[in-house]
Amino acid sequence: MNEFIQYARKKLKKKLSESRYEHTLSVSYTCVCLAMRYGYPLEKAEIAGLLHDCAKCYPEDSYVSRCSKHGIPLTDEEKAAPAVLHAKLGAWMAKERYGIKDEEILSAIACHTTGKPGMGLLDKILYIADYIEVRRDKADNLPAMRRLAFEDIDEALFQIVEGTLTYLNKRGMTIDPMTERTYRYLCEQRQTQRKERS
Ligand SMILES: [Fe+2]
Ligand SMILES: [Fe+2]
Repeated sequence: MNEFIQYARKKLKKKLSESRYEHTLSVSYTCVCLAMRYGYPLEKAEIAGLLHDCAKCYPEDSYVSRCSKHGIPLTDEEKAAPAVLHAKLGAWMAKERYGIKDEEILSAIACHTTGKPGMGLLDKILYIADYIEVRRDKADNLPAMRRLAFEDIDEALFQIVEGTLTYLNKRGMTIDPMTERTYRYLCEQRQTQRKERS
């Protein structure tokens, strides 16, 4: 096995809770499966999955101060609702603490909670893998999304982002503006593609 993957697994097993470590492994395997399906380098996908929640070793109420300490720029919305921040902090940790230099891996970790306009293939793989991995059991649409992820990655991404926004809206929960921006971008992209086809 790739030495780095072995090292990262050992370190994460020590730092994360048992359930978070299980989720981490499941996401990394799901990333690999999606990478096989869509022709992306398997090890890069596995590493992105392994490290995506590495910042979850810290309590949520410490994310803002840790980000400030490391010079990670934050929006006012992120400061007010820091739950999504483990993605940005995680990308910083992947680079500085795990020595990851690959920009695609760092990007995928940084946007795995909110997505972003113009997501690349690994960004999409990780975002979707985090939602559909085998230990997840809350969302009603999981069977459909698990199937769709392997049929049409862009449609799966769209439906997961849309479903997440609907869920947060219904419960009156805070929505990070980046999630809304991602959704608007995906809507515009779909409209353009439909026009091109007609
Ligand atoms: Fe996460
Ligand atoms: Fe996760």
